[in-house]
Amino acid sequence: MQRRDHDPHEFVELVVERLGARGDGIAHYKDEPVFLPFTVPGDRVRARLGARRGGGREGRVIEWLDYGKGRADPPCPHFGRCGGCAMQHLDQASYRAFKLVALRTALERVGIDPGLVQPLRVVPPARRRARLGLTRPRDPELRTRVGFRERFRRDLVDLRECLVLEPGLLHIVGELRLVAQELLPPGGAAEVTLTRTDSGVDTLFEAEGRPELSALAALAGLAVKCDLARIAWRSPAEEILIVERRPARVVLSGVAVPYPPGGFVQASEAAEKILVEEVLAGIGRGGPVVDLYAGLGTFAFALVAGGPVHAVEGDERAVTALARAVAGRPGITVERRDLARNPLPPEALAAYAAAVFDPPRAGALRQAAAFADSTLGTVVAVSCNPATFARDAARLIAGGFCLERVTPVDQFVWTPHLELAAVFRR
Ligand SMILES: C[S@@+](CC[C@H](N)C(=O)[O-])C[C@H]1O[C@@H](n2cnc3c(N)ncnc32)[C@H](O)[C@@H]1O
Repeated sequence: MQRRDHDPHEFVELVVERLGARGDGIAHYKDEPVFLPFTVPGDRVRARLGARRGGGREGRVIEWLDYGKGRADPPCPHFGRCGGCAMQHLDQASYRAFKLVALRTALERVGIDPGLVQPLRVVPPARRRARLGLTRPRDPELRTRVGFRERFRRDLVDLRECLVLEPGLLHIVGELRLVAQELLPPGGAAEVTLTRTDSGVDTLFEAEGRPELSALAALAGLAVKCDLARIAWRSPAEEILIVERRPARVVLSGVAVPYPPGGFVQASEAAEKILVEEVLAGIGRGGPVVDLYAGLGTFAFALVAGGPVHAVEGDERAVTALARAVAGRPGITVERRDLARNPLPPEALAAYAAAVFDPPRAGALRQAAAFADSTLGTVVAVSCNPATFARDAARLIAGGFCLERVTPVDQFVWTPHLELAAVFRR
């Protein structure tokens, strides 16, 4: 029989000591950490212990007995239930301190001076891209829902307000809710990615099955009502273009790039601007540059004003879009390559003076090792994960690079996530 070391209905009294990497307060019970969402250091709470997590347990606060310092009234009515935001209960100073502590801790852990971290670059909460759930219950009495997943359950929050989405996207969420009944069969579910491109909103549905006839009519109506650029529907078998009213395009440093359904763009336009500035300032002018994990060319099109750029990206659709945008444009070449399996080796890197790399959350350890063994003079890293960034940075430093500065950018407002740009030189 499995040993049970706590009663699942047991209430315990705990004092929150600090905030953990996911933004939850951490207290201790019987020498094990208990992770308590929406708390701050100094809170004294009565909590129920839950599932195991990270060498300890999840906890749910039942009652606050004392309040710690650094709290604020969460501005969104969904906060506490919606899984979209985790940190609206912190005042501005505590919130900003949390973001920086998470980065400094990740650097210190690998022996990098946390003093290199620059002040947090703040952007308004305005995401132009969001992936939401859509569900239609079997019971016709129950409402269809469109929203983020709840923090503690698989259910969706029926998103009526959202302070992190661009207002135009929130408006579409409301219109989607009105037609959701026609889009899905009873008991059906889908994911929908909304991206505000420079030619209108691109809408990608992902579901197990194809859309039914009634759904096609509803989607056509939605596209007109919300002036959507495009609607596509992806199922495991195929992707169907349902409506295309205008070609979806993103404009990067003045260049219009075709936007593939659900493609990658930096979540916030204001954050993208800061990242581009940081990359340009770090790379400077002179000598060819290689842009790894180039996506649709966010950095490549900015960098080409200073000299030739070779953009390398793994996703076929992004590469096709990028190749179409650079056709006939001197200075940029494009290569499709899986950089995790097949990083650009030191011999290939010898053709460049500098590199920028912007990998997914897993980081790019093998590519960092190739940088370390190369003759590159400058490497600029862009990352959405301080932990893998710190690991990759340590590899570059071991190979003779000096870390000049790390600029944190609060792209993912009210979440525990942080974007950053960092400059390494020999
Ligand atoms: C964080 S995005 C950055 C994109 C671009 N630099 C930008 O700012 O818009 C990471 C990019 O890496 C690409 N990617 C993910 N895994 C890859 C791999 N193994 N090899 C090459 N590219 C990959 C993704 O398709 C995506 O375009």
